[in-house]
Amino acid sequence: MTIAPEDRLIVALDLPGVAQAEAMIAKLGDSVTFYKIGYQLAFAHGLTLAEKLAASGKKVFIDLKLHDIGNTVAGGVSSVAKLGGTFLTVHAYPQTMKAAVEARRGTNLKILAVTVLTSYDQNDLGEAGYAGSVADLVKTRALQAKSIGIDGLVCSPEEVSAVRAIVGNDMVLVTPGIRPAGAAVGDQKRIMTPSKAIAAGADYLVVGRPVTESADPRAAADVIVAEIANTI
Ligand code: C5P
Repeated sequence: MTIAPEDRLIVALDLPGVAQAEAMIAKLGDSVTFYKIGYQLAFAHGLTLAEKLAASGKKVFIDLKLHDIGNTVAGGVSSVAKLGGTFLTVHAYPQTMKAAVEARRGTNLKILAVTVLTSYDQNDLGEAGYAGSVADLVKTRALQAKSIGIDGLVCSPEEVSAVRAIVGNDMVLVTPGIRPAGAAVGDQKRIMTPSKAIAAGADYLVVGRPVTESADPRAAADVIVAEIANTI
């Protein structure tokens, strides 16, 4: 699978409304081809923007991490496919993943599974009722996702090489927690530079604030794409 460097950067539009998102998209111009829309913007009319972006030729990652009974997940997946989305996240529970894969058949939508949220450590897992380790649960869920036919996984930069070793080259790996050298870390705890994450096996990098809070977002995006191009 060959992905052009400029298509490997996914800019997270974690902004309060469509007007702010449209202003950012205008600033980024043709430097950015792929956008992620999550809870904040999706629940502020962002899904209308997602449809518009897809119709204009951009790719859209709808990051709503679905998890419900199979019939409801399937309905959600069908609606996101009709918006023209490229990626949609679901939580990596077998019923949910099976319903999502089935519902995306015949569309251009790809399903990404979230194995274990990266904010969860061993204590959080125990509190949620899981006895095993984070690494074991990530492994179990990654293998289940693969056998169910999930298209890709979201993982932290430090997990990416282990996950790549588990699932092989057929699944897409998408990695947030990216900080170019010298960028503000914000609330991210386990970060990696774009080149290190790509070298570790990531296919796509999700970057939010280092681009959207930059004084010159377009230049910030161009620097990241250039770094990716120098690594692959
Ligand atoms: O601004 P920043 O680059 O930290 O944004 C990263 C994006 O990736 C946010 O939209 C965040 O929700 C998302 N994300 C993350 N860590 C995860 C999963 C998703 O930062 N484990």
